[in-house]
Amino acid sequence: MTTPSDTWDGSYATSTSPPWDIGRPQPVFVRLADAGLLSGRLLDAGCGTGEQTLLAASKGADALGIDISPRAIQRARDKAAARGVAARFEVADALNLWQFGLTFDTVIDSGVFHIFDDEDRARYVASLASVIEPGGSLYLICFSEHQPGTAGPRRVRQDELRSAFSDGWNVTKIVPEKFEVNPDSGLGTSAVEAWQATIRRRLLASRRGAPGPVARPGEHREHA
Ligand SMILES: C[S@@+](CC[C@H](N)C(=O)[O-])C[C@H]1O[C@@H](n2cnc3c(N)ncnc32)[C@H](O)[C@@H]1O
Repeated sequence: MTTPSDTWDGSYATSTSPPWDIGRPQPVFVRLADAGLLSGRLLDAGCGTGEQTLLAASKGADALGIDISPRAIQRARDKAAARGVAARFEVADALNLWQFGLTFDTVIDSGVFHIFDDEDRARYVASLASVIEPGGSLYLICFSEHQPGTAGPRRVRQDELRSAFSDGWNVTKIVPEKFEVNPDSGLGTSAVEAWQATIRRRLLASRRGAPGPVARPGEHREHA
């Protein structure tokens, strides 16, 4: 039986890069990094070959990238070694983040929220909730309904984002953005219509999903 891990790993096995793997960070994350927002203990959920994680680490974040694809994680580790950047990468399922026993001040999601169906979307949000510190920030970019056609991942509307993060989160900002893709990806463009959402975990939120370890005030949990 083919698992989601096999399918995603297969997308990194071809001689051409997958559409999203553009070999540099998404410009929107470069702007967030330049604004000093990719900081503290940071998780890049579904990091692919690690460009956003490496960017955050190069700006001083204590950055961990996780992905379900072993090939993507190996490439990310190779890039970190080649560039001399102290980012860490682990094969892991973004739907079960509490298994790490870690918490984060900042989480980034570049093109991951939009890959999940409704059921896994709810699991993903619960998984994120289990590892992000109260008051912590999630920076997310996803395809928007303004991107024409049906090629690529599902399109996401603003109200879907607000609904998905309605319990225990504050959606503080949703702005139109571009998600860059490789020009030969079949989308007919190299810049897809997207939403960039800034979402904060409420300070007094109750954690949903499996009970994950929560850092006590002042406690810094070391990454594995
Ligand atoms: C559209 S790609 C985006 C990759 C990366 N964030 C980027 O911007 O280059 C989606 C990524 O999510 C990963 N992925 C899919 N399901 C996952 C899961 N359940 N847990 C962790 N990663 C997952 C895939 O392997 C893939 O690398």
